[in-house]
Amino acid sequence: MKPFGTVSLVGAGPGDPELLTLRAARRILDADVVVHDRLVPTAIVDLARPGARRIPVGKRAGFHPVPQDDINALLVDLAMTGAHVVRLKGGDPFIFGRGSEEAAVLRRAGIAVEVVPGITAAQGAAASLGMPLTERDCATGVRYVTGHRKGDAPLELDWDGLADPDTTLVVYMGAANMAEIAARLIAAGLSRDMPVLAVSKVTTPDEARATSSLGRVGADPVIRALPSPVLFVVGRVVALAEAGQAVLPEVALHAPHLAEGAHA
Ligand SMILES: C[S@@+](CC[C@H](N)C(=O)[O-])C[C@H]1O[C@@H](n2cnc3c(N)ncnc32)[C@H](O)[C@@H]1O
Repeated sequence: MKPFGTVSLVGAGPGDPELLTLRAARRILDADVVVHDRLVPTAIVDLARPGARRIPVGKRAGFHPVPQDDINALLVDLAMTGAHVVRLKGGDPFIFGRGSEEAAVLRRAGIAVEVVPGITAAQGAAASLGMPLTERDCATGVRYVTGHRKGDAPLELDWDGLADPDTTLVVYMGAANMAEIAARLIAAGLSRDMPVLAVSKVTTPDEARATSSLGRVGADPVIRALPSPVLFVVGRVVALAEAGQAVLPEVALHAPHLAEGAHA
């Protein structure tokens, strides 16, 4: 019987292929099969050798995502053929990426799993926007939080703990619930004027951003129009973001009052 192959859970970073780690690039080059999220750029998937299989799974607008259980089963089946499988995931596989669930299923099946970290979206945004998340005059710490719970469960977060003006909050998957998140943070004591930055497709050529405040973000039409994926940063560090590409030039042109605040 052929021995089981291995699965490398590889972080593809936030978008720019230059942000891959050397180890990630080496694993992709070596792979027999690459099972990738649909948001992972083609330039990264195409590092695989021509004979390697490429299997897209996961979300992209207009596609039905492959259910997580099916992805888990696929990874097990592929590894049982003896293949070196690279499971390529956006950002870091262990930051809101369900990488831990995939690793647990594989290990239970007796398959060796290796985790190759990637640059998470928050770090991509910090570098791309020139916005140190823990700048000492602005924040004593940073917290990564989810804006969306499993199975659309109610968003029960530690609002009192999160409403700390000295901590930078980075909200992943927050686009649908940002109005509620902002309202809960204000109710827990954060100022309505606390700056909020939203960045879309960070580190890609389509990166776009807009700034707002906790009091306005929920109804801000410029922020609502940002294409996914969108990351939110709440805190004083937002003021450090370098002036960049104004979001949605067509909004600025046709409705300048809506574009107010679109620059960092
Ligand atoms: C399921 S989480 C995966 C996070 C990923 N594992 C990481 O470490 O970045 C998806 C969320 O990450 C954020 N995200 C990922 N890539 C992004 C990008 N290039 N630009 C903006 N936000 C991004 C968005 O908030 C998106 O809703």
